[in-house]
Amino acid sequence: MPKIAMVFDLIRWEEKAIIEAAKRKGVDLVLQDAREMFMDLSKNSTEIGDLVLQRCVGYYRKYHLTAALEQTGVTVINGFEQTVRAGNKLLTSLLLSRAGIPTPRTMLAFTPEAALKALGELGYPAVLKPTVGSWGRLIALLKDEESAEAVLEDREFMFPAYQVYYLQEKVERPPRDIRSFVIGDRVVAAIYRTSGPRDWRTNTARGGKAENCPIDKELEEISLRAARVVGDGIYGIDCMETPNGLVVHEVNNTIEFKNTVPATGIDIPGLIVDYLLTAMR
Ligand SMILES: Nc1ncnc2c1ncn2[C@@H]1O[C@H](COP(=O)(O)OP(=O)(O)O)[C@@H](O)[C@H]1O
Ligand SMILES: [Mg+2]
Repeated sequence: MPKIAMVFDLIRWEEKAIIEAAKRKGVDLVLQDAREMFMDLSKNSTEIGDLVLQRCVGYYRKYHLTAALEQTGVTVINGFEQTVRAGNKLLTSLLLSRAGIPTPRTMLAFTPEAALKALGELGYPAVLKPTVGSWGRLIALLKDEESAEAVLEDREFMFPAYQVYYLQEKVERPPRDIRSFVIGDRVVAAIYRTSGPRDWRTNTARGGKAENCPIDKELEEISLRAARVVGDGIYGIDCMETPNGLVVHEVNNTIEFKNTVPATGIDIPGLIVDYLLTAMR
């Protein structure tokens, strides 16, 4: 009997829901806390199982553990390649752009001086993002050159990773964006995320409100295309509505769905367990 495991570093609403869905479906899900693990890299083997659902919150933990697990021959969902591609916004942008998938205009620079020149071309307002990060953290709205200079000066005193200047046009969108959920080759659910009163960012982690979003042809197609360039797996696709149609600005690798399940009535944890079972075959 193949063994399915879930690695985690925190049991959130999502992990509880996945554990419950597995129970409901009679799937024996082995739980492995990544914080209690160690791996001997010379052995190229592990007892953890045949298939691992990767649910670590911490990016660096997830990235390194997935690499080490795959080396032992275990299938990890999402896989290492996917984790690299979706985990870094610059790499995702390159993939989206190469595939011709609509995405906001984005620039890359490495010094405040070059970043200001790039912003001169991009125009204001613009958005500065760390290439690795989530929950809207450190995503700054640069309203004009003066505020850009101030933010860029701050970044020079941060870790070198924050001195990779990933700059994006501020998309003229309604005060909401769309998060769609792709599991394998299906878009299973989508929500509108409307920003709260105190933040322009729509992340539910920042007070964005979730509401069911109908999945029309355009949303389905752009979500599947975006997922496909990253690779097989489970994703949350972030899109924005523009006068010229949808644009994708992010592909998320370890999805959160605490707000989406009540808003849509879709059993995302159950669908994740079903996907693990098909991936076993
Ligand atoms: N180019 C943009 N134009 C307008 N709003 C944006 C833009 N990029 C991001 N945002 C807002 O900021 C939020 C967080 O950005 P995102 O790129 O998804 O990073 P994170 O990984 O932190 O979720 C988005 O959900 C959206 O509300
Ligand atoms: Mg996002």
